[in-house]
Amino acid sequence: MARYRVLLAGCGSMANTWVDYALKHSDIDIVGLVDINEANAKAFSNEHQLKVPIFREVKEGASATEANVVFDTTIPDAHKEIAISSFEAGCDLMAEKPMASSIEDARQLVAAAEASNRFYAVMQNRRYINQIRALRRVIRDDVIGKTSFVSADFFMAPHFGGFRDAMESPLILDMAIHTFDQARFIIGADPVSVYCHEFNPEGSWYKGNAAAICIFEMSDGSVFNYRGSWCAEGVPTSWESTWRVNGTKGTAIWDGVHSPFYETVKPTSEKVFLNEFTREQIEVPEKIREGHFGCLDEMFTALSEGRQAETDCRDNIKSMEMVFGALESAAKGEKILLG
Ligand SMILES: NC(=O)c1ccc[n+]([C@@H]2O[C@H](COP(=O)([O-])OP(=O)(O)OC[C@H]3O[C@@H](n4cnc5c(N)ncnc54)[C@H](O)[C@@H]3O)[C@@H](O)[C@H]2O)c1
Repeated sequence: MARYRVLLAGCGSMANTWVDYALKHSDIDIVGLVDINEANAKAFSNEHQLKVPIFREVKEGASATEANVVFDTTIPDAHKEIAISSFEAGCDLMAEKPMASSIEDARQLVAAAEASNRFYAVMQNRRYINQIRALRRVIRDDVIGKTSFVSADFFMAPHFGGFRDAMESPLILDMAIHTFDQARFIIGADPVSVYCHEFNPEGSWYKGNAAAICIFEMSDGSVFNYRGSWCAEGVPTSWESTWRVNGTKGTAIWDGVHSPFYETVKPTSEKVFLNEFTREQIEVPEKIREGHFGCLDEMFTALSEGRQAETDCRDNIKSMEMVFGALESAAKGEKILLG
């Protein structure tokens, strides 16, 4: 019997990556599928040649299969119910972002994981990129000095169709958690307050607000500025955003595609109007598996070592607070204190 007996809940598009990971690891067995739409589960089972039972609910599936881990790749509105049922069934949980559809529900899930002493980690695959880890290392090593001003620009124009086109705040709710989580990861600080202006630009094909500007004050005293749009045709940024991290000694840049670099002040004994700078490409010796596989590697390593994963629910709630704080600020037109 494999060490990890996984019940996979939600047989949609994201589940393909999760099942692919499981099938490539001999200590993980997929022992059952859960989906409210049986046709989705059957099609998924056929596609991946899984000879496992299909259930409508985690509770029933966990007891019938003696699963000890649940993968949750259902839609955000179902995450709360899947998490609570997983903990009640004595299963550890690895789940897609976002933790839940509201901050209150997400906080309840953290409390439920703690009360049941269960492992609960959240997919934040955009932390698992070698370049972002190299950028973070340089910033933690104080190469550009104390971080003071961090900016992320996210300008893309995906024509998804489907549920995102009808959402009230598609950019902030569906995408920005990745960028907000990356900001915390890069500078190693947590949010203290947010002011957000959300809007739907002229020509947008989304019903809800597809663009936003947010100003976060962070716990290390720095300011994180997010500018994003999901209906910005032309000159797109990468999905990882374009980053500018300004410190007391210099500035680091990462476009999300190429290796990051930084410029620091060239020492001089003269009094000058504008300094000259030395530019250094940041080496990327980091060699983790990237994306979902990297995040799942960390989750399973943490579970086997009996420690919290990097993206444990107690950490992820801070990225969730950034999302829901930004929405509250936009609705009220005022700065919101977080934490
Ligand atoms: N990390 C990433 O980069 C990334 C990218 C895309 C989507 N996601 C996240 O992955 C999750 C799934 O997204 P998707 O695009 O695969 O969605 P999807 O709509 O393709 O699939 C969701 C599946 O869940 C099932 N489902 C819905 N409610 C359920 C319930 N109560 N119980 C059991 N099954 C239920 C649906 O029938 C469907 O088969 C979402 O939370 C989304 O935000 C993450």
